[in-house]
Amino acid sequence: MKKAFAKILIVMVAALLLSAPQNAVAKELSGDLEIFSWWAGDEGPALQALIDIYKKQNPKVEVINATVTGGSGVNAKAVLKTRMLGGEPPDSFQVHAGQELIGTWVKADRMEDLTPLFKEMGWMDVFPKGLVKLIGTDKGIWSVPVNIHRSNVLWYVPANLKKWGVEVPNNWNDFLAIAPKLKAKGIVPLALAQNWTANHLWESVALAAVGADNWDALWSGKLKFNSPEGVKAWELFGKVLEFTNADASSLSWQQATDMVIDGRAAFNIMGDWAAGYMVTTKKMAPGKDFGWAASPGTSGKFMFLADSFCLPKGVAHRDNAIAWLKVLGSKEGSDAFNPIKGSISARVDSDLSKYNDYLQSAAADFGKDRVVGSLAHGVAANETFMGGFASVMEMFLKTKNAKAAAAACQQLADKAGIGR
Ligand code: GAL
Repeated sequence: MKKAFAKILIVMVAALLLSAPQNAVAKELSGDLEIFSWWAGDEGPALQALIDIYKKQNPKVEVINATVTGGSGVNAKAVLKTRMLGGEPPDSFQVHAGQELIGTWVKADRMEDLTPLFKEMGWMDVFPKGLVKLIGTDKGIWSVPVNIHRSNVLWYVPANLKKWGVEVPNNWNDFLAIAPKLKAKGIVPLALAQNWTANHLWESVALAAVGADNWDALWSGKLKFNSPEGVKAWELFGKVLEFTNADASSLSWQQATDMVIDGRAAFNIMGDWAAGYMVTTKKMAPGKDFGWAASPGTSGKFMFLADSFCLPKGVAHRDNAIAWLKVLGSKEGSDAFNPIKGSISARVDSDLSKYNDYLQSAAADFGKDRVVGSLAHGVAANETFMGGFASVMEMFLKTKNAKAAAAACQQLADKAGIGR
């Protein structure tokens, strides 16, 4: 009798021991998860790859993929602001690493510190230290990076350049020499789209005009925007603009890329999401159907930006959001997302065999180039500066007054607290 009782007890204890850890892990998530970004339409497939992984892990969660169309988040950021100020934060939203995150939402104390998550997931060692610095302050780590994009890339179709007898320009003098010849043939030398892409072009031109040290010095306040170097950047930008299309302001960035693909334009300067678009949407082969180079005068320099997602304070579905962030930071998530997106992984241990020739070359450059931060995509300056910069750009596109633009930028820098 005693023996039988002991046996039953052993079986019961064993069953308990077996089931306990599973119970601890398997708290099945349910309810909604609302993620907010500007990755709609052509920019959607990479995000979908992450959602697919999330759905596999959390089949009972309903993912609400809230997107607001508009390259570089021009429209999404305005909608987000309204929601945040109205006390209705999405469960997680897209935000650029750097000042767009730190100088805005973190400063306003709207974000949750993700340091415990980084420690739990072992992420302190898998993301480059420099990147963790950009998403962190002395009070915490504020987002999970999903990628590294390159801003200063010149795109072209090799067969078209051959047909037109044109070489890839190494610097802006080269470009300014070949541009009139292209124009005479009825080809737009440099395709441009709506105003934020002018900001995007400006940062590549400015980097070439002032150099990497001075670029950094502008953002630390050590070099004034109205210095001779700062004025030079706007002057060169004005010259380059003479060789862009007149209908730029009505085009999306994809339409400017299309101009190059269709042979209406020779070149476009755009971030490497353009490679994602050409490969994923247009099914073009990197190196064959399209070519790339560092934008003129910036060879050996990698102007970078990183997309990330964060956890606002007071969200409706916090556990679901944390599970989402875990997918984003994982190796599996990163290597599913980035090859489609046209970016390289933010993790140091990514599986490069999954990445195409363009991305492998970007990864190699990121490892050896001088890395500087993008203005147009949130790294270098906060939203106060960026909002004002859009107006300066509008003014410049009309007046082409380099000195006035440089002076206005310095006023903005003072207002935005650059260098303080
Ligand atoms: C950038 C963003 C990229 C891409 C691009 C075009 O700001 O970092 O991931 O979406 O805008 O919309």
